[in-house]
Amino acid sequence: MATKNTIILAAGKGTRMKSKLYKVLHRLCGKTMVDHVLTQVQKANMNNIVTVVGFGADAVRENLGNRTKYVVQEKQLGTGHAVLQAEKLLGDLDGMTMVVSGDTPLFTTKTFENLFTYHQNKKAKATILTSKAPDPTGYGRIVRNDLGIVEKIVEQKDATTEEQAIDEINTGVYVFDNRSLFEALHKINNHNAQGEYYLTDVIEVLKQEGETIAAYKMDDFNESMGVNDRIALADATRIMQERINRQHMADGISMIDPQRTYIDAGVKIGSDTIIEPGVQLKGNTVIGNDCYIGANSEIRNSVIHDHVTVTSSLIEESEMLDHSDIGPNSHLRPHALIGKHVHLGNFVEVKKASIGEGTKVGHLTYVGNAKLGKNINVGCGVIFVNYDGAHKHETTVGDDSFIGSNSNLIAPLDIQDHSFIAAGSTINRPVNQYDMAIARSRQTNKPGYFKKLPYQKD
Ligand code: UD1
Ligand code: MG
Repeated sequence: MATKNTIILAAGKGTRMKSKLYKVLHRLCGKTMVDHVLTQVQKANMNNIVTVVGFGADAVRENLGNRTKYVVQEKQLGTGHAVLQAEKLLGDLDGMTMVVSGDTPLFTTKTFENLFTYHQNKKAKATILTSKAPDPTGYGRIVRNDLGIVEKIVEQKDATTEEQAIDEINTGVYVFDNRSLFEALHKINNHNAQGEYYLTDVIEVLKQEGETIAAYKMDDFNESMGVNDRIALADATRIMQERINRQHMADGISMIDPQRTYIDAGVKIGSDTIIEPGVQLKGNTVIGNDCYIGANSEIRNSVIHDHVTVTSSLIEESEMLDHSDIGPNSHLRPHALIGKHVHLGNFVEVKKASIGEGTKVGHLTYVGNAKLGKNINVGCGVIFVNYDGAHKHETTVGDDSFIGSNSNLIAPLDIQDHSFIAAGSTINRPVNQYDMAIARSRQTNKPGYFKKLPYQKD
């Protein structure tokens, strides 16, 4: 059976990144570079995907999980040597094998599919994906003869001045006849400037054996950008962000300033939502229809339903139901569930708590480890005192209750429906339905005392 396979090269350290983190694990738009590559490869329907790991092998495995098979390259002797490690898994197969680097995160499934089609149409043994670089420095150059037929790929460090002037570059993506690939890999050597076994030398080997080599030149250089240092990482991030934002706008989302809007790959947004500048939507966040996400809000791994307004706030691993609103300057910490039509005003922090439909928490309040019912009014400056220094405890507040301003509710505590907590109370015993609880010292008035104050004239 003819198979369709891909080998992803991800064993290099990435010296030029100057980082403790292995190169392919650097992130853009929320995902590692190698995850972006794998995601696009998967969508092109492969029989086998093999990732070559070496430096940081465990971390790469942890990042990609069982979406790919793995082979280990113990010593990083070059890209050709890296591909050869996959021979034990793929060597016996008929069919085609694509090779792609883990440091080229911008390639799309469509380009991969086009490359396979081109390769088949040309009946080639190897097809190189090439593009025209505005500045080809650092890339392998495509050397063609007078008839325009590809002769070989020359690496930057091995190129003559004449070859360095060539602006058609090797994108590092190829499709090979699988058996020819592994046969040719046994014939390459490391006699070059870097002392490495170059995958690119396979082209010259096949050429000398009289095989057909094709080159598919893609239009968009940006898509082929290889990330070898932080500058390229920032450039690639900008390109990917623009691609993501344009797709959302095409799908019916308004962005006031798309260049200052940061949305991770994989975030979902409903139509007619408006996003102001400086917003960051991260991880697997889902935003509903007709929402308003105000300037500089950050939302991580959260679900925001329809008609929700978020004003300059931070939301983490939480959920806001329809027609709720928050902010400015409020914070949902993990596991906050905000009900329909709930109003959370400014400087409100909620953690591991659910707040029922129609409840209002307007100002300067901390709600931690609590269950609040419906239509409750929480005054200004209320503190749900949830921590005794060793353990967290829970507070429940029943429907239609009123919590006066500047109250402390000391958990564990149960306040039943229709309760009234007087302002300034510190409550640490249960409150029954329809009761008022007041826990503050009585006011004393001293008539005329003002006039006795030493600094008063009369
Ligand atoms: C490579 C190509 C170059 C091309 C460029 C495109 C070679 C010799 N050169 O150069 O022609 O223009 O990509 O971006 O192939 N890796 C391993 N094991 C190794 C060495 C590298 O797994 O022993 C992996 C790296 O992790 C990386 C990929 O292979 O993901 C490419 O290696 P890199 O060092 O970035 O090659 P370039 O210099 O970019
Ligand atoms: Mg590279």
